[in-house]
Amino acid sequence: MIIEGGHPLFGEVHISGAKNAALPVLAAALLTAGNSRITNLPKLRDVTTLFELLRLLGSRIEQDSRGSVFIETSKVCPCRVPYELVKTMRASALVLGPLVARFGRAEVALPGGCAIGARPIDLHLKGLQKLGVDIELDEGYVKAECQKMHGGHIVLDLPTVTGTENLMMAAALIDEDTIIENAAREPEVVNLADALKKMGSSVEGAGTGSIFIHGTRSPRPFDHRIIPDRIEAGTYMAATAIAGGKVKIKGCPQEFFTPVTEKLQDAGVTVRCLSDDIIEVEREQGMDIMPVDINTAPYPGFPTDMQAQFMALLSIARGVSLITENVFENRFMHVLELQRMGADIKLDGHTAIIKGVESLGGAPVMATDLRASACLILAGLAAKGKTTISRIYHLDRGYEGIEEKFGRLGAIIRREKEK
Ligand code: EPZ
Repeated sequence: MIIEGGHPLFGEVHISGAKNAALPVLAAALLTAGNSRITNLPKLRDVTTLFELLRLLGSRIEQDSRGSVFIETSKVCPCRVPYELVKTMRASALVLGPLVARFGRAEVALPGGCAIGARPIDLHLKGLQKLGVDIELDEGYVKAECQKMHGGHIVLDLPTVTGTENLMMAAALIDEDTIIENAAREPEVVNLADALKKMGSSVEGAGTGSIFIHGTRSPRPFDHRIIPDRIEAGTYMAATAIAGGKVKIKGCPQEFFTPVTEKLQDAGVTVRCLSDDIIEVEREQGMDIMPVDINTAPYPGFPTDMQAQFMALLSIARGVSLITENVFENRFMHVLELQRMGADIKLDGHTAIIKGVESLGGAPVMATDLRASACLILAGLAAKGKTTISRIYHLDRGYEGIEEKFGRLGAIIRREKEK
């Protein structure tokens, strides 16, 4: 991706469906035998990767022209989910819960580490054991088996997002009570709960730390709309802040990203809530960005998926900012690339000390993970000169039509085949 910096952004951008809501809802279709319809799915690599996995398991998937997807799951069988697939997308582990719930068995490759950390699924597996599932690890594969699942009381050591989602789906067909405590509270978890309710399960408390599930023995195919992507919205808000200009971000309920709005306002950026799903961000040229301190936390705290984008913004603030990453153990890969662009950032354990500089300089840089790629785009928008970002396949995992959307806002950005 090649970006010519120094152009402020003007206009409006429409937010797509959320990647992290789409993946669990697609996996939940495995719980039923029939034809489920899912709408507002984003066109992303991670979504097509999961389609591949669902087809491998025997689903038939059709898409209509308006982005609706029909998933026919009558012929699904719990065949082995290969490492080749799981290593490209950790969220493949989300099929574990549904397969065990419907067929009493599953065999899924353990996700290895990824750029932002080890990211085990030990809490997913411990929770399944609480529901009566026998878990065996063999040659890098999780083998789950159970005669009869029963309800259980699960207390998660960490509010794991996909862990909560996997366990909700595992419990969704058990005709007994299951409680998940210290559950993740993300809007994507609530969206999955809504889909499970349409399927016929009773799910209470999604969005709080305690979720009560009483599953159904006769799940129905469901018709469900994916919620908008709060991280995509936050990314365009931070982009307007760093590049300057005035942009309306449309289609995402602002209560999904309150901490991001508050931190932008603390940084001196104007943020106007024009309606419950239209927010306007403005920073006049020459207006200073003020330093702020950030601690990432599970929802409703400041999202770890917005940490890299804010690091780009704060690298040109008028002062020193501290960013502490509390969720992942290695989510500072973008620091080295920002330093190549002239950012003054020092790392002390999980904290980055960012001393704002007058401006960044364009340079060839390399994307290391999805949100680090977004961070480098934002840095490129503000940097003097040209920035070339390689390995942008990371970007296509989570941002639908990013160069079109930025181009329509006035950014000078284009994609070129790597020589
Ligand atoms: C989800 O990942 C998101 N992915 C991530 O988004 C997001 O960064 C993350 O939640 C935190 O919000 C999807 O929803 C598909 P976790 P997930 O389990 O569920 C540790 C993006 O950019 N942990 O909440 O994998 C884990 O190592 C992606 O869109 C265990 O130790 O994250 C991590 O340090 C990146 N054992 C922490 O918990 C477990 O069994 C949070 O992980 C599970 C997790």
